[in-house]
Amino acid sequence: MTRKQLNESVEYLIEKGFDKPEIGVVLGTGLGKLAEEIENPIEAFYNHIPYFPLATVEFHAGKLIFGILEGKKVVVMQGRFHLYEGYDLVDVTYPIRVMQRLGIKKLFISNAAGAINLNFKKGDIMLIEDHINLQGGSPLAFKNVGEFGNRFTDMSEPYDLEMRQKLLKIAKNKNITLRQGIYVSVVGPQLETKAEYRMLKILGADAVGMSTVPEVIVANHLNLPVVAISVLTDECDPDQLQAVNIAEIIEIAATAEPKMITLFRELIKNV
Ligand code: HPA
Repeated sequence: MTRKQLNESVEYLIEKGFDKPEIGVVLGTGLGKLAEEIENPIEAFYNHIPYFPLATVEFHAGKLIFGILEGKKVVVMQGRFHLYEGYDLVDVTYPIRVMQRLGIKKLFISNAAGAINLNFKKGDIMLIEDHINLQGGSPLAFKNVGEFGNRFTDMSEPYDLEMRQKLLKIAKNKNITLRQGIYVSVVGPQLETKAEYRMLKILGADAVGMSTVPEVIVANHLNLPVVAISVLTDECDPDQLQAVNIAEIIEIAATAEPKMITLFRELIKNV
């Protein structure tokens, strides 16, 4: 990744009309509907944006959408890049750097995740308080990282406290149960074994998924305040583990999605 590449990606989007978005949103697997609510949308398919990684996963529409939500200029990623698709961590986080250069001042992230904390149920949503990176690498481990920010990025409070508090307040006002917990990222794409779910619980995780952590690391690298919400799509009980059903995961994500949309819309209004 070079500055020149980033500039070309950004110039392409500016030419298309992506005019100084204030807020960036990443929509996870099965969570793309918020994109349909954008007013005056301008779309850019990932595979048309210079230097963007090529989109592959069939669950995702794979486009960047600029427009208005709650009166604010936003840029929304409908679908994201995952390590398990064969990209590296620098590729996976490239869109975050592009959105930051377009001008976003805040980043909201969503994902589908499994519930490790068995007090949480499928269909619940969880505000990520902190994370554990088990993806075996860093999106900041490249030679010229210093050109883009501090190599030794502080991670003492990776998820913006002020926006988290706002989300908790919004959830309360809207009568939405918002769990809070620790998200652990794994590479995937295989799901976890019973032994792995037991391990993740011992490590202190409340939810497990295959995304978000690299994006949050890069947001912190860019001093970009970020919040993230997990939609819990399955219960990872090692003592009663069911065979995974991806169709069901996507279905549960869709049923919980309206709660996430309400929280994000209200937060957009309130930041
Ligand atoms: N593990 C990892 N990723 C996931 C899961 C899970 O159980 N559920 C949804 N995404």
